[in-house]
Amino acid sequence: MLPAYFQFYNPVKILSGKKALENIPFELELLNASRPMIVTDKGVVQAGLVDIVTAALGGSNLTIGAVYDKTPPDSSNIVIGEAAALFRDAKCDSLIAVGGGSVLDTAKGVNIVISEDTTDLMKFIGADRLTKPMRPMIAVPTTAGTGSEVTLVAVIANEEKCFKMLFTSYLLLPRVAVLDPRMTLTVPPRITAFTAMDALTHAVEAYSCLQKNPLSDAYAWAAIDLVRKHMIMAVTDGKNEEARMALANAALMAGCAFSNSMVGLVHAIGHAVGGVSRVAHGMTMAILLPWCMEYNMGKCAPYYGELLLPLAGPDEFLKTDPEKRAGRSVAVIREMNSHLNRLAGMPLTLKDCGVKRESLPDIARTALGDGALVFNPEESDYNEILGILRKAY
Ligand SMILES: NC(=O)c1ccc[n+]([C@@H]2O[C@H](COP(=O)([O-])OP(=O)(O)OC[C@H]3O[C@@H](n4cnc5c(N)ncnc54)[C@H](O)[C@@H]3O)[C@@H](O)[C@H]2O)c1
Ligand SMILES: [Fe+2]
Repeated sequence: MLPAYFQFYNPVKILSGKKALENIPFELELLNASRPMIVTDKGVVQAGLVDIVTAALGGSNLTIGAVYDKTPPDSSNIVIGEAAALFRDAKCDSLIAVGGGSVLDTAKGVNIVISEDTTDLMKFIGADRLTKPMRPMIAVPTTAGTGSEVTLVAVIANEEKCFKMLFTSYLLLPRVAVLDPRMTLTVPPRITAFTAMDALTHAVEAYSCLQKNPLSDAYAWAAIDLVRKHMIMAVTDGKNEEARMALANAALMAGCAFSNSMVGLVHAIGHAVGGVSRVAHGMTMAILLPWCMEYNMGKCAPYYGELLLPLAGPDEFLKTDPEKRAGRSVAVIREMNSHLNRLAGMPLTLKDCGVKRESLPDIARTALGDGALVFNPEESDYNEILGILRKAY
């Protein structure tokens, strides 16, 4: 059934495939920019990816004004201040983010600080608080997970207060997303596994959250189908370009989906686990997704039932009694997690991620303040969230 009203917005230009990186100088010229700052992290530099990007920019009129490579996992307000100072000192006019979600979100944070000419990032937490046009940003994702290259979201850790700050604004959308096969070939199996599960979670939540609509459904569906067909190959044979590009496109499409229909309970609790206990985002997603689906079953069973088709394929879908399809979808996701655990050591419980049992109440309280909760179809209170956390422990 169509919603009575919906909006869908995705103005990001997408360049996907061989030699996509070589188009960056042309794209920046179109955006009237000539002195970009590259934002990245040490792992991405060590994997040789920044060298590939700078080589692809060679021979153009661009000057790389600065390279900021100290992005930590999950970014942070302190790091963003430091990177923004470098941007100003080096008189840069644009951003090229080369990295996973932590790097992409750091670049978005730098863009807020520079474009709003502020030192207080905290002032802009929440929805639609930005007012000034941003500097041109080109996003080059090197993981296939967050979809941040096409989302209006930035997730940045508040180091002092141990929670993840959420910023949402159409102004945060990068101008161009570049998916180049050379960028994800080096992602280690465990990171490949949990980032793919992040993308899958975006798609499942987008398909079942309150702002779902036919366009976000189409993107979410296509993303899940690609994850089913290619995730295991990308984990077992990291150099397989076809599998890598399929996952990169899946992550991007899941990002388009959730940037419009938003994410819900899994992300609200997952952000809190990440903020309080510093667990990698994708790991929390993989672990929490089946438990939250079970919690949401009363409202979401019809949607989860439909998703059995892209999650498990046509044979399994047809042979499963329609009444049992939603439950089977949850079971299929648990089977995916177990498979990834066997292949790549991806943890299956919060305990195995290093979360302390005594932190669970703190995590539940933090989750209650997360913006994603608003979009979840089923309401939840402190005790219910604590119950989910205990099951996932
Ligand atoms: N803005 C959004 O829409 C959005 C959505 C979901 C998640 N997030 C945020 O994104 C962050 C997580 O991002 P992530 O899962 O991509 O992980 P990440 O960016 O933290 O990267 C994980 C690790 O992988 C390494 N790495 C990245 N690419 C590599 C490559 N090609 N080869 C070798 N190593 C590589 C990095 O150096 C890092 O050590 C979290 O902070 C999460 O909250 C943002
Ligand atoms: Fe996510």
